[in-house]
Amino acid sequence: MSSDVRRVERAAPAADTVGASVDLSVDLAGVRLDNPITSASGCFAAGAEMERFYDITELGAVVVKSVTPEPRQGLPTPRMAETPSGMLNAIGLQNPGIDAWIDRDLRWLQERGVTVIASIAGATPDEFRDVARKLRGQPGIAAIEVNLSCPNVEHRGLVFACSGHDSAAVIAAVRRETDVPVFAKLTADVTDLPGVARDVVGAGADGLTLINTLLGMAIDPDTGRPELANTYGGLSGPAIRPVAVRAIHQVHQAMPHVPIIGCGGVRDVGDVVQFVRAGATAVAVGTSTFVDPFVGPHLIAGLRRWLAERGHASIAELRGQVHPWR
Ligand SMILES: Cc1cc2nc3c(=O)[nH]c(=O)nc-3n(C[C@H](O)[C@H](O)[C@H](O)COP(=O)(O)O)c2cc1C
Repeated sequence: MSSDVRRVERAAPAADTVGASVDLSVDLAGVRLDNPITSASGCFAAGAEMERFYDITELGAVVVKSVTPEPRQGLPTPRMAETPSGMLNAIGLQNPGIDAWIDRDLRWLQERGVTVIASIAGATPDEFRDVARKLRGQPGIAAIEVNLSCPNVEHRGLVFACSGHDSAAVIAAVRRETDVPVFAKLTADVTDLPGVARDVVGAGADGLTLINTLLGMAIDPDTGRPELANTYGGLSGPAIRPVAVRAIHQVHQAMPHVPIIGCGGVRDVGDVVQFVRAGATAVAVGTSTFVDPFVGPHLIAGLRRWLAERGHASIAELRGQVHPWR
C-alpha cells in the first residue's frame, strides 16, 4: 500500500512537466490569452458555479451567457433534448439583464481575475448598443462577443446572422460604444457565410466566432409532439463539428487576418487541433462541458502534451496549417 502511494507521488510531477515549454498563448485581436481554450456562451452558467470543479482562471478566457438589456425568463420547458452526438436547446436567452449581471456576475468574475469575453444580445440594433454602452469602462472585459443568432423584431423576427446587412447594422452600433475588440458570432445556417463575415468585418468587427448552433427539430414518434416546447431549437455538440470546421476554414481562406474563435462540438485535443488548423485562433467548448465539467483543463493539459510529443513549440504555428492532398 505505502509503496503504491510513493509511486503515485513520484509519477505526478513528471506527468505535469510534459510540454511545460510549449507556448499555448495566442493573440486574439490584440488580447493575449495564456491558452486558446475558452468556455462557449451559455454553457458555463454564470462562471461562479464552475469554480467548484476547478480554478476557472486556468481557461484562456470565459465567454459568458448572452446578456440582454432587460431580464429574460427564457422559453417554456421542455427546452433541451438529447440527439445523436449532440443536443437541441431552445433556452430563449434566459439571463438576469445587464444591470443585475454587472452587479452580481461580472463583479464576481472581476474579483476572481477572470479574463471575460462578454456576450451580448438584443432584439434591435439599439438594444445591442445599449448593452455595449453599459459595459463601457468595466474592468476585466477583454472583448465583446455579439450574439447575432437573435430574432430581429424590426425584420419579421428573421435572425440577424442570416442577413449580412442586418448583422452589419448591429456591429456598427456596438463598435461605436466600445474600445475593446468586438467579435461577431455567426451561424452556418446561411448559403454565403464568407459574405456575411465580410459584411460584419466591414462594419467594424475585429474578429468572428464560428459557429452558433444550427436550427433543428426532433419529434417524439409516439406522442407526435416536438421534443422542445418551442418546436425548433439549436443543435450543438459533436454532430455539428464538421460544419464548424468547414465554416472556420471557408472564412479563414477568405479573410486570413481576421481572428476566429472556433466553436461547435469540440470534445478532445484532436478537435482543438482541427479547429486551429482550419484557422481558429481560440477554441470555445460548449456542450462537452455538460458531459465533463473538467473538459477545459483537460484540453489545456492534453494540448500541451500533444504539441510536445510532436515537436511543436507553440499552438500558434499550427494556425491555418491544412495541407493539400497533392
Ligand atoms: C444550452 C445552451 C445555451 C446556449 N446559449 C448561448 C447564448 O446565450 N449565446 C450564444 O451566443 N450561444 C449560446 N449557445 C451556443 C454555444 O455557445 C455554441 O455556439 C454552440 O453550442 C456550439 O458549440 P458546442 O457544440 O461546443 O456546444 C448555447 C448553447 C447551448 C447548448
